[in-house]
Amino acid sequence: MNEERRRLAAELYAVSREHDRAQPDRLARFRNVEPDTAALLGVLIRATGARRILELGTSNGYSTIWLADAAEATGGRVVSVDLDPARTELARVNLGAVGLIERVELRREDAAVTLARSGDAAWDFVFLDAERSAYPGYSRDLVRTLASGGLLAVDNVQSHGHELVEFTALIEAEARLTHTVVPVGAGLRLAVRG
Ligand SMILES: C[S@@+](CC[C@H](N)C(=O)[O-])C[C@H]1O[C@@H](n2cnc3c(N)ncnc32)[C@H](O)[C@@H]1O
Repeated sequence: MNEERRRLAAELYAVSREHDRAQPDRLARFRNVEPDTAALLGVLIRATGARRILELGTSNGYSTIWLADAAEATGGRVVSVDLDPARTELARVNLGAVGLIERVELRREDAAVTLARSGDAAWDFVFLDAERSAYPGYSRDLVRTLASGGLLAVDNVQSHGHELVEFTALIEAEARLTHTVVPVGAGLRLAVRG
């Protein structure tokens, strides 16, 4: 990521943190991924050459900036979905400010619908960062839509592992995935298919 983009992303992260600190309602917070985790996602996309990238949970686009910057390097594109139209609009503005809006298709859509409508092996890289209680319902489609060699990244697996017990059991039982948990930020599960 170039210096100008890095600076703008850091500014967005700082403003979002300030907003979240003053916001008692968890669901009203932006809850951006930690910068170290975001940077790791960018490295992984570059390392794997992922071009078809899906993000489930856009919020105001902080993580999307890192995914789209990496997509620019691989010649890929990002589809990012969120249920909240106001956040999707904020993400559009933030991605425009860093010159990455052309790399991203922002959809106001339920992650479950996005996954159900995705073809088999549709995605090279999936970043799952939405509402954890819904994840068990995604597990089958996550595996089905991940390409061979594709990577699934799931945030908050250490900070909120207790909320992910069922999902973790489901995907760890999936023989087509090989897993590890990276102790970066809130804890990032990585699972590669094949
Ligand atoms: C933790 S935030 C995402 C943070 C973002 N990835 C980042 O790092 O900047 C979770 C987002 O998921 C969205 N969300 C919750 N349930 C969803 C669903 N079923 N489908 C799509 N988005 C959902 C919320 O509106 C919220 O903006």
